[in-house]
Amino acid sequence: MTWQAAQAPVRVAPGDIHVWRANLADFQKDPGSESVLSEDETQRAGRFRVPQARARFTAARSLLRFILGACLECPPAEIRFAYRKHGKPFLAPGLFREDLRFNLSHSHGLALYAVCTGREVGIDLERMRADRDHERLAARFFSAREAARLAELPAAQRQGAFYHCWTRKEAYLKARGEGLAIPLGSFSVSLAPDEPAALLEVAGDHQEAGRWRLWSVDAGPDFAAALAAERGPANLRFWDWSLSPLVPPSPPGS
Ligand SMILES: CC(C)(COP(=O)(O)OP(=O)(O)OC[C@H]1O[C@@H](n2cnc3c(N)ncnc32)[C@H](O)[C@@H]1OP(=O)(O)O)[C@@H](O)C(=O)NCCC(=O)NCCS
Repeated sequence: MTWQAAQAPVRVAPGDIHVWRANLADFQKDPGSESVLSEDETQRAGRFRVPQARARFTAARSLLRFILGACLECPPAEIRFAYRKHGKPFLAPGLFREDLRFNLSHSHGLALYAVCTGREVGIDLERMRADRDHERLAARFFSAREAARLAELPAAQRQGAFYHCWTRKEAYLKARGEGLAIPLGSFSVSLAPDEPAALLEVAGDHQEAGRWRLWSVDAGPDFAAALAAERGPANLRFWDWSLSPLVPPSPPGS
């Protein structure tokens, strides 16, 4: 996979899954990037006590609006979101093409976005840390099958495999949109370096694993990332916002 420069408007065709990567500090330097949030988003930003967390939330939300604006050919500030029960944002009905779906993740100043049409999508990004007790976390959060597979691997492969597992589980949960209402131990993903990304099994539902596809995303050194989408044709495109920031259309009459 190669990250490329996008050009507006960005057409998301049926079967396309567009993945965007952005350095939020670079985006924060773009003029106008902070003025596109809605009132409720601005209030939410104001509730972050730590200035850096507030700035990152603001930048990640603003850039979501820029990206969706480029796909919908509308000014970023005009986009309206609605939220599912467990917080997953989607485009408010009645205003835009309603089949456009998206999800986002950010970690330590890097952000990933996934955009597609007509099917659910989830994306997760984590910065890898060597100082975590992987075995203890795996025993707590992973399924028995995942924890056993992790323990079988050579020590040198365990950190990478741990983060493959973590981000794949999280991407699947985010695609489903139900968060931790789905117990983390009730489903298993692949994690070994020589195994393709996959949802392997879901307890109590033999059909469920076959409904989803998972991919690893190469977000950059020190990061692990995964994408999950409902099964179907998948033409993956990888855009790096920093290579070509897109100028959004202006509101009519401005
Ligand atoms: C809400 C949740 C998505 C948080 O994820 P996170 O890793 O803290 O944050 P990310 O940056 O990856 O994603 C956050 C974005 O996902 C979106 N989101 C929020 N709720 C969501 C949901 N229920 N489903 C999908 N996406 C959701 C939002 O756009 C949010 O960004 P914003 O708040 O800045 O608008 C949720 O899955 C969660 O809390 N998971 C628990 C983490 C955990 O213990 N994982 C163990 C994995 S083994």
